[in-house]
Amino acid sequence: MDNRQFNTEPLWKMFMFIVNIFIAGVLLLFGYFVLEKPIQDYINQPSYSAEQLEEMTRNRAIQRSKERSENWDLVEKGIHLKTGLKADPNLQIVIGACTSCHSAKLITQNRATRSGWKNMIVWMQKTQGLGDLGYNEPIILDYLAKHYSPKEVGRRASLDPEAIEWYILNLDQ
Ligand code: HEC
Repeated sequence: MDNRQFNTEPLWKMFMFIVNIFIAGVLLLFGYFVLEKPIQDYINQPSYSAEQLEEMTRNRAIQRSKERSENWDLVEKGIHLKTGLKADPNLQIVIGACTSCHSAKLITQNRATRSGWKNMIVWMQKTQGLGDLGYNEPIILDYLAKHYSPKEVGRRASLDPEAIEWYILNLDQ
């Protein structure tokens, strides 16, 4: 009977206080797990002096230009690796004139006669902003006609009737 007079409010408040602390603790723990890595990374990020940064930038630039100059004229099996164009003494003229707007693939995927290539160049000059090629034009046309002429494509060995093994189609089976 005495219990009914007992004031439970302080107990209740205490209980809620503990619950709140518990929730806050869980949130903190959660935040810690989520943020620990970014915070650690931020604290431990390497710091370089201006001179070190400059040197690193310079070394990277040297490294890159070395890679470029080692690879820019590599030729394998008659193919210039960088562009996929056929190797040729005049290749660099073609690269200089023909690869600034689009990939050399447009060339390697095409076949045409000398006049066909001339037409394509005229078309690009009329509609795509290709400039006058000057005295490089005949050099480029020679290159294109030599390496990317229609004859190069789909050429197969001519048939040798003697070599053909004829057989009789058996329809009974
Ligand atoms: C001023 C920029 C420019 C230059 C330089 C240039 N072209 Fe083009 N060329 C174009 C454009 C633009 C197209 C259309 C590309 C497309 O359709 O995606 C094109 C298309 C082509 C095509 C495809 C034509 C077709 O019928 O599909 C070939 C082949 C080609 N160029 C060859 C050359 C050759 C060879 C040279 C060097 C003489 C050259 N291009 C230089 C702009 C240029």
